[in-house]
Amino acid sequence: MKLCMIGTGYVGLVSGVCFSDIGNVVYCVDKDKKKIDLLNDGKVPIYEPGLEEILKRNHKKNRLIFTTDLKSAVLKSDIIFICVGTPTKKNKNSADLRYVFSVAKELKKFIKKYKIIITKSTVPVTTGDKIETILKSLKKKKLVDIVSNPEFLREGEAIRDFIYPDRVIIGTESNKANKILKSLYLPIIKKSSRYFRTSRRGAEMIKYASNAFLATKISFINELANLSEKTNVDIKDISFGMGLDQRIGGRFLRAGPSYGGSCFPKDTKALIDTANKFNTDLSIVKTVVNSNDKRKLYLTKKIDLILENKYKNKIITFLGVTFKPNTDDMREASSISMINYLNKKGCKIRYYDPSGEKKEFQNLKNVKFYKKISSSCFKSDLIILHTEWNEFKILNFKKLVKKNNFIIYDLRNIYSPDKMKKNKIKYFGIGR
Ligand code: UDX
Ligand code: UDX
Repeated sequence: MKLCMIGTGYVGLVSGVCFSDIGNVVYCVDKDKKKIDLLNDGKVPIYEPGLEEILKRNHKKNRLIFTTDLKSAVLKSDIIFICVGTPTKKNKNSADLRYVFSVAKELKKFIKKYKIIITKSTVPVTTGDKIETILKSLKKKKLVDIVSNPEFLREGEAIRDFIYPDRVIIGTESNKANKILKSLYLPIIKKSSRYFRTSRRGAEMIKYASNAFLATKISFINELANLSEKTNVDIKDISFGMGLDQRIGGRFLRAGPSYGGSCFPKDTKALIDTANKFNTDLSIVKTVVNSNDKRKLYLTKKIDLILENKYKNKIITFLGVTFKPNTDDMREASSISMINYLNKKGCKIRYYDPSGEKKEFQNLKNVKFYKKISSSCFKSDLIILHTEWNEFKILNFKKLVKKNNFIIYDLRNIYSPDKMKKNKIKYFGIGR
């Protein structure tokens, strides 16, 4: 089939590249010409392991075309995916849908024959209805069906999540559209994942409900970690023991510094906003958002305790700053609030991250990026393991730091407290 992905961010680019790899012709459109030029040079503007190779392979076979020309791409395509950003509005909970609606208004100008228009971006319940209203003249002539097909891609694992999804959710009232989409996804769903067709609003809701539930699991175990510290229990045992219950499941039960990224924070707030519009109180999701926000401050206060508030001339090293490993994405990363708090304390802050230097810290005078783990740790007083990149998992800290009585603060519990004790290294974990 011929597909058009509008927006080549994490969602549009990964989906477009993977759709081309299973045999479709895919036009990837973006209004950002710099991004399109980079893509036409075979370069990937996002950090997604494995994506560049698949992109090059299909770009070479002319199955993957990058362009800023929305009209020509749409006219050549059967299915149009809207993958533009849906960020949270400033100082609000609601999702900013201006890009989605501006794309819909563009489409109205030149669609002359039947197209399926899909919202793949995460959009609040009833957004499909609003797009249908914008395109009602085309709808009346049966030239469009508006469908919800939310993405469930995790950054850093996006290709695997696309090719081996747990489920493909299609929200539409049109049997014609459903039949076409089932054949589009056939190469993927035959790998035992589930193809589930529901109403359009149902599909929109499944996406938000799923992310809100995953965020709830994480906040739940993070609060249990606070209790575990007080009761001298190891939270990793609690997560493992709980996870053996099939009804709970062990995934997304790892205690950490708080959830970040472009999705959980945005989607939990947008769901609360939708509920408010329908006079429904989602008190649990509200508590999850509040708990996650409070946690960042709670952990920085913990650093006050660890250093006994003695910051002068201290060197603090962050190993990893991204919101999770295998991505360069800093959106809502807990390191941002922690480093900004510590920067005001007058200590020297170093950070190393495999995905490189971050613009978020470039204006902070006490913060410096180091290109190597060794130089970032040398003579450091406190090493904070913030993001669990693989290369941090087996470090010889004594050799790296080359000084006595330094402290490790392991925000992801990737190290063994017993080994730290044996090496006489002062160690703090999360919930242990
Ligand atoms: C984001 C959210 O992470 C995701 O949850 C949601 O489903 C979609 O929005 P992402 O791919 O990360 O997904 O968006 P972003 O990285 O902001 O990329 C959006 C792309 O769309 C950008 O490259 C932007 O230039 C492009 N765009 C935006 C257009 O091409 N046209 C527009 O009108 C607006
Ligand atoms: C998430 C959803 O998993 C994905 O299905 C959806 O499509 C987009 O949003 P993503 O935000 O890329 O994916 O990352 P994810 O792996 O879900 O992690 C989100 C945050 O939760 C990260 O900050 C991560 O560190 C944290 N996390 C995750 C935990 O703290 N503990 C866990 O057990 C799992």
